[in-house]
Amino acid sequence: MADFQIAPSILSADFAKLGEEVDNVIASGCDIVHFDVMDNHYVPNLTIGPLVCEALRKHGVTADIDVHLMVKPVDAIIPDFAKAGATYITFHPEASEHVDRSLQLIRGEGCKSGLVFNPATPLDVLEWVIDKVDMVLLMSVNPGFGGQSFIPATLEKLRQARKIIDASGRDIRLEIDGGVKVANIREIAEAGADTFVAGSGIFGGANDADPNRYNTIVGQFRDELAKVGG
Ligand code: DX5
Ligand code: ZN
Repeated sequence: MADFQIAPSILSADFAKLGEEVDNVIASGCDIVHFDVMDNHYVPNLTIGPLVCEALRKHGVTADIDVHLMVKPVDAIIPDFAKAGATYITFHPEASEHVDRSLQLIRGEGCKSGLVFNPATPLDVLEWVIDKVDMVLLMSVNPGFGGQSFIPATLEKLRQARKIIDASGRDIRLEIDGGVKVANIREIAEAGADTFVAGSGIFGGANDADPNRYNTIVGQFRDELAKVGG
């Protein structure tokens, strides 16, 4: 069975009690923390920066933190996120003048690196930098907001990305971001994803009767993943 990882996007968490929210999703069975950084320039929204990442580490979060940069330019903020405790740092190729250099910078700072592809962005650049990439992230919505619907063409793109990664023989995660719900996670996994960002799909499923608020919803995601290939 594939090593599936669920990555709740804290964009949909209650920011007034962020540390507690992150503790709860991890205690409910999620694997990594998806951290959406938006600059009101590359995308039309403004969110959180390195100080918040550092605060989560100081709060005691030990899970991997998957920093998704939706900022332009990207290079200046990479060392800041490395110091703040990021595990992965991913960025959009359109947002960097020198994609190869930005990838090297991320690894040079001791983090895992990744490229993010918007729905209309072809996978071409991956071919030339695949040796410098630890994660490929396909956007299944246009970046900027939580709660949008999954764009179905992304399933075919996932199949293509899965072929490219497998042919490379490299250890690269294939992550999907946008509109992931209990109802579609199985077909997304069957198309080749192994890492699943879910914001509204998880935080919207809070249940105060659960020991950690999210046990039921995360359990439903896991049950669907257990059916993959069956
Ligand atoms: C969108 C962000 C996503 C977002 C996903 O730009 O990159 O991570 O939080 O939210 P949902 O899962 O609600 O589509
Ligand atoms: Zn994201």
